[in-house]
Amino acid sequence: MESREPEWTHERPTGNYCVVYPARGHVIYFTTRVAGVEYPGKLHAMKYSDFGKRLSRHTGARELMDDLGAGMASEHPVMMLGGGNPAHIPEILDRFRSEMHGILDDDREFRRMVADYSEPAGDKGFRAALAELLNREYGWPLGPENIALTTGSQHGFFLLFNLLAGQFSDGSFRRILLPLAPEYIGYKDLGISGDLFVSGRPTIKHLDDRQFKYHVDFSDLRVDDSIAAICASRPTNPTGNVLTDEEVSKLSAIAKRNNVPLILDNAYGVPFPHIIFTEVTPVWDEHIILCMSLSKIGLPALRSGIIIACEEIIDALTGMNAVTSLSVSSVGPVLLKNMVQTGEIIKLSEEVIRPYYQRRVGQALEWVHAALDGCNYHVHKPEGALFLWLWFPDLPISCAELYRRLKKRGVYVVSGDHFFPGLAEDWAHRDQCIRVTYARDSESVRKGMEIIGEEVRLASAGGLQSR
Ligand SMILES: Cc1ncc(COP(=O)(O)O)c(C=O)c1O
Repeated sequence: MESREPEWTHERPTGNYCVVYPARGHVIYFTTRVAGVEYPGKLHAMKYSDFGKRLSRHTGARELMDDLGAGMASEHPVMMLGGGNPAHIPEILDRFRSEMHGILDDDREFRRMVADYSEPAGDKGFRAALAELLNREYGWPLGPENIALTTGSQHGFFLLFNLLAGQFSDGSFRRILLPLAPEYIGYKDLGISGDLFVSGRPTIKHLDDRQFKYHVDFSDLRVDDSIAAICASRPTNPTGNVLTDEEVSKLSAIAKRNNVPLILDNAYGVPFPHIIFTEVTPVWDEHIILCMSLSKIGLPALRSGIIIACEEIIDALTGMNAVTSLSVSSVGPVLLKNMVQTGEIIKLSEEVIRPYYQRRVGQALEWVHAALDGCNYHVHKPEGALFLWLWFPDLPISCAELYRRLKKRGVYVVSGDHFFPGLAEDWAHRDQCIRVTYARDSESVRKGMEIIGEEVRLASAGGLQSR
């Protein structure tokens, strides 16, 4: 008989589910339900390598993306406030559609888009156009040799983190320092040779209107030989925080002094997609690795990430791209090359994308305040990205339990505890927050917020018994 409870059970939209029994050494059983009858499945006793086990285990990223897929495919109405899908902005989609038509009608461009492998660093025309654009806009001395494209920036981070951190042949293990947790869920499980992150607790500044803002606690920031790089998302997923110029310049100085790169994840930042509501000074330098993406301008399905760095890093990433993918997709780069060359991508970001999200976030905040009226809650000041980060300081249940209860009611959020990669110390705050996207259709956001309010009230009324 099994002596310990299964570690997790994961229901799939298909009706299949699998169970991991730790006492039997992570053996996975599949059971299939057909017409309500359960057929205990075949024992699946595949032996996986350490690398395989690390990457195939149950992770926050997997949970989030499975929820997103299940929610999209569900026949029942689901309020999908969990994923990081960008909004479908009609004006932006129309522009991409007309550009795509132009390419379909142009034999040479069409073939370049779909019929040739690109270089392993990605389409050179696009990289050159982007380097010129950044040079024009910010005066950065970049050429195509400073840019590598990746299969989505998620894969770019996988390559980058494992390039710089992990196990070294001298026996040392070097990690990535995340100066401020909460931080992006997608980093957490990327290390192939162990947990790659060490992170710091932020300071919290309370603001008007139940808002608060995290700041880097520089008094607690230690960089020694065990640190391979410093990394922060700006704007931050999940909180919508934007590190101030002063914080970035201090982090840059610390990185430079310690001879390690500063990785800035600019997935939502300037010059595109510009989902950022404060004024920021964009930075790049030889020791800064700036990561961007085509996802949040509205093209997540094209899986195009961008890494801007010194030539040495780009050369290493190019080799890693060649080994792991041969080359990267040219669909995004060919589609966007003209818009990057002419600077139209910046204009669209400033004039359409940013105002769209600013309007949406203002509306969503009003619904949050209405839904949670009378509850004890705080919301992180939304300065960018697609999310509201809600903090319930004295909720008697954990945010993971709140996530489960909300899911039963068709509201998908992300439990806040997934967003603290590398935070070693216990911190109650970790179990008191949820991430909600406001980029879905308005009715889902409004109704979803209403249900969150109801569940928070129910949990608070039940006190400890509702655990
Ligand atoms: C901060 C941040 N970085 C990176 C990514 C990965 O984006 P993609 O792989 O779609 O380029 C995301 C996606 O949500 C994100 O929020």
